[in-house]
Amino acid sequence: MSTNQTFKIAAIPGDGVGQEVVTAGRTVLDALAANSGGRFAFEWSEFDWGSEYYERTGKMMAEDGLETLKDYDAIYFGAVGWRNVADHVSLWGLRLNITQNFDQWANIRPVKFLPGVTSPLRKADDTELDWIVVRENSEGEYAGVGGRNLSGRGQGNEVAVQSSLFTEKGCERIIRFAFDLARTRSVKKVSSVTKSNAQQYGMVLWDEVFARVAKDYPDVATESVLVDAMSAKFILNPEQLSVVVASNLNADILSDLGSALAGSLGLAASANLNPERRFPSMFEPVHGSAPDIAGQGISNPIGAIASAALMLEHFGLHAEARAVEAAIEQATASGALTRDVGGTASTGDVTDAVVTALTRTLAAI
Ligand code: NAI
Ligand code: MG
Repeated sequence: MSTNQTFKIAAIPGDGVGQEVVTAGRTVLDALAANSGGRFAFEWSEFDWGSEYYERTGKMMAEDGLETLKDYDAIYFGAVGWRNVADHVSLWGLRLNITQNFDQWANIRPVKFLPGVTSPLRKADDTELDWIVVRENSEGEYAGVGGRNLSGRGQGNEVAVQSSLFTEKGCERIIRFAFDLARTRSVKKVSSVTKSNAQQYGMVLWDEVFARVAKDYPDVATESVLVDAMSAKFILNPEQLSVVVASNLNADILSDLGSALAGSLGLAASANLNPERRFPSMFEPVHGSAPDIAGQGISNPIGAIASAALMLEHFGLHAEARAVEAAIEQATASGALTRDVGGTASTGDVTDAVVTALTRTLAAI
């Protein structure tokens, strides 16, 4: 049977558990393609960029790496960061290099509560919880604006400036994205998060743009919440959340909080989208390289597998994305759990359980 559609994916496993979880995600996608009756296939290229590559070359990725990546339909990323390279060097040299230069300005991070996984959040026992953090991914606190140019003043006298950058266009596109996403959900509501009482320039601009854009979406409920209050709300009233839109730093922190509430950082998925599709988008688990557990085969692959489901969504394979999500739920419900969520299964065991559930689901439709 001929293959109708081939998706070219650049895999960048990176450091630590990134290697293990990207292998897991590829296994699930390959099983999906094998069961598609030839409707689609994935063509993988793997790049060995990361901290080990830095050790050899002094660079986190190839000089012409961005040029190479441009031709792919998507990037599937693990994690970056290891002991031999300062974290700001590895993050800016690889992950932020890609997100910034490919204008992946929308970062979506669903917070999902899975059956069989005990949440530290009591409400999760009997309240249905499911929300998405939409993170502005191109400017704000991570714009890289600032400097450390006063070292000539001598030890103890250095001054560093780290500025946040908020543009009206940047605020507007992410806020509109959040409203459009809210319209696709059963609860049509957007919560905007800032700290505009203390940060009176950039974040007040954000608040003003939010109020203006909201007028175009009269069917979507809104609220503006300060980030400290929102972190309390994540724990006390999470049932009131549907789409939460925030700046780069605030959404980064809130999404880790959300995934911890769902049970583990290892569960959380993420998509870095260039919505205009001028560049490939990048899909990755929220977690980092987890040096404390790397190499033991016990990392939780669910965040990476769920990120692969977001990639399927991006390819327009909606039913397939649902099938992978359903397979994840069946696997956790059946007790296929790694140590971080209270089980004893290995990365491979959980991956196998997802593939088994997926194959069963696909055979039934
Ligand atoms: P981390 O996310 O790597 O680990 C935090 C905690 O969560 C650790 O206890 C770890 O064992 C656990 N954890 C993470 N992923 C897991 C998984 N799949 N299964 C089970 N448990 C998991 O964050 P940390 O320790 O702050 O950073 C480690 C390195 O990763 C640093 O170099 C940091 O810069 C980098 N990092 C990279 C990110 C990326 O590439 N997107 C994101 C966050 C951190
Ligand atoms: Mg983070």
